[in-house]
This record gives sequence, structure tokens and C-alpha cells, in this order.
Amino acid sequence: MLDGRTLHSELKKQDTKPDKKAESKSYPERQLAKMLKDQPLTLPETNHNLIIGDSRRMTELADESVHLIVTSPPYPMIEIWDNLFAEMGFNDFAAMHLYLAEVWSECFRILVNGGIACINIGDALRKIDDNFQLYPNHVKVIEHCEALGFTSLPYILWKKPTTRANAFLGSGFIPPNAYVTQDCEFILVFRKGQPREFPPKDLIRYASHYTIPERNTWFTQIWKLPGTRQHIPQIARRVAAFPEEIAYRLIRMFSIIGDTVVDPFLGTGTTMKVARDNHRNSIGYEIDEKLVPVIEDRLSSDDLLKPRHRRKKIQGYHITYQKTNPE
Ligand SMILES: C[S@@+](CC[C@H](N)C(=O)[O-])C[C@H]1O[C@@H](n2cnc3c(N)ncnc32)[C@H](O)[C@@H]1O
Repeated sequence: MLDGRTLHSELKKQDTKPDKKAESKSYPERQLAKMLKDQPLTLPETNHNLIIGDSRRMTELADESVHLIVTSPPYPMIEIWDNLFAEMGFNDFAAMHLYLAEVWSECFRILVNGGIACINIGDALRKIDDNFQLYPNHVKVIEHCEALGFTSLPYILWKKPTTRANAFLGSGFIPPNAYVTQDCEFILVFRKGQPREFPPKDLIRYASHYTIPERNTWFTQIWKLPGTRQHIPQIARRVAAFPEEIAYRLIRMFSIIGDTVVDPFLGTGTTMKVARDNHRNSIGYEIDEKLVPVIEDRLSSDDLLKPRHRRKKIQGYHITYQKTNPE
């Protein structure tokens, strides 16, 4: 999670050139102002469902009922996720991706035609039996998703600040056996079918517009953003939560107010919280029941870092426990 100040300074760094156009209003902003003179905008009520269960079978969700997926799975070949994959019976690189692909298949089923799936994943570097190599997780996810029928769209590279300016892997200053530092993760973007269509002058769609500076910052391929803060609860760090800013940008870019956003690997609840705060319906699947209090805290507060007594309680979400897990 980012605080306002960190985020602001990060965004300023990315947006260094003054953009004259940014000072004027965009076409959708001007259009919306005109439309609002004739018809009032009522924001829809939204629903939020946390499902404790396995997203390889999202039986609670109907076909073509979801507009956007925003998620980050456990990363194959990254040690912190070894146990989870092993418990499920998937022990090597290819097998771990077969596990994830079952979820991608469900994502394809529940998305509407034109719905988008944004998948944040990092590659892994690992030494096994004296063999040090890259495990390109992003390639496997693209292969599986395309095989399911998804169309690949341009992806985003999330560049995290390196902790040490001189960080490197391998043999220092003597060529040729050093390795490039891995400081980017991927945010893969896929679409099911053809782009969504809307009636002309759809008020809700115009009300969901982004501004010129937002468009200029968000629709670039490299996002320089810090990771989640280090002093969040231990359990939140353990599941490698992504910063709220990632979910915020993706939800504003690829959905409109009133849409339904699903995260099949919910973790600490980042996607649900951001979807709710931006007037989208949300559904999150999480297999690890121990995360329920963390998710509830997230959904009950504006800011997890505030002392408990100062957190704003926002109710209005439901928890369901999946009845049957897949064999
Ligand atoms: C990388 S974490 C997600 C972090 C999340 N983006 C956040 O901001 O907190 C992946 C999560 O997926 C969960 N998970 C793994 N397999 C699952 C499955 N089949 N169904 C539901 N959740 C699963 C793990 O327990 C873990 O909490």
C-alpha cells in the first residue's frame, strides 16, 4: 500500500515534462459536463463478495458475468510459493503453470465478451542441481492464456526501485558470467473476444473517464512504482501484496463504474478494496482461510496503516465458504 506522499512523488518523477494539453479538459470531461446538465448521475449500489475457496472452480459465478479480472497468482519457482504448489501436488515449473492455467480457464469462462484480464507475475531465477536459470513465468502465462482463446494486448512492465544501486547477480566486474538484475514484473493484459460496445453517450461510461495526465501516465509501458510498504502485517508481506496503485490504475483503465471485478487470487484483499472504493462490484477468491481477518481489516478501513480506532468502518461485503473443493 502506498501513502499519498510516496505516490505523489513517484508520479511526479514519471511525469517530468510539462504537458500543456493536460491543463485543458479532455473531450469526455467536456461531454460529461454537458450531459450532466440534462440528466443527473446516480452511482449504482455495489456488491462485494469474498469467497473462501479454490478459484480453479468458480462455481458461484455464471458464464460471462464479469467485466475485469485483476490478479497476481503465486509465482511458480519462487520459494515462498513452493509449499502451496507442493500441497496441491504440482512440483515442477510446467506443472505449476498447469495449476494456474485451470484458473485462467475459469477466468475465460466468467468474462463477458470484450472483458479484460490483467495478470501481474514476475519471472523466477533459481538454482536447481547446480543449474542457475531464469524461469520465464510471463511466457508460460501468455502461452496458456492464448491457448484458451485470450487475445494478448500490450503488457506493462512494473519497475520496482532496486534496493541497492549497485545490485547485481553473478561475478562482479569480470565478464562474461554476471546476470542482469531482475527489477521488473509483468502486468499481462488479455482480452476475451472483441472490444466491448456501449450505446453512444453512455453517461456511466463518460463518468468513468480518466484525465489527460492519468492517460499519459497510465498508458505507458513502464510503470515505476515502489512495492508494498514494509511495515504492513507480516501475513500481508508473506503473500506479496501488490500496491493499491496497481489495482487502482488497472480498474480505472479497463472497467467502468458498476462493472464487476474479480480477483481469483485475492491475498490481502487489495483488488476488492480498490474496486469498492471506485464504485465497481467485486468478488475475491482466497484459498487460505487464515487471510480472512487481514482481508476483513482491509475492507473495513480506508487505510490499513491507521491505528485501529481511527479506521473508518465501511460495511457491505459478504463472506461465503465454498462448499466443495475440486479434487
Ligand atoms: C500473490 S498472492 C496475491 C496477493 C494480492 N494481490 C494482494 O495484493 O494481497 C496469491 C494468493 O493466491 C492464493 N491462492 C493460491 N491458489 C489459490 C486458489 N486455487 N484459489 C484461491 N486462492 C489461491 C494464495 O493463498 C495467495 O494468498
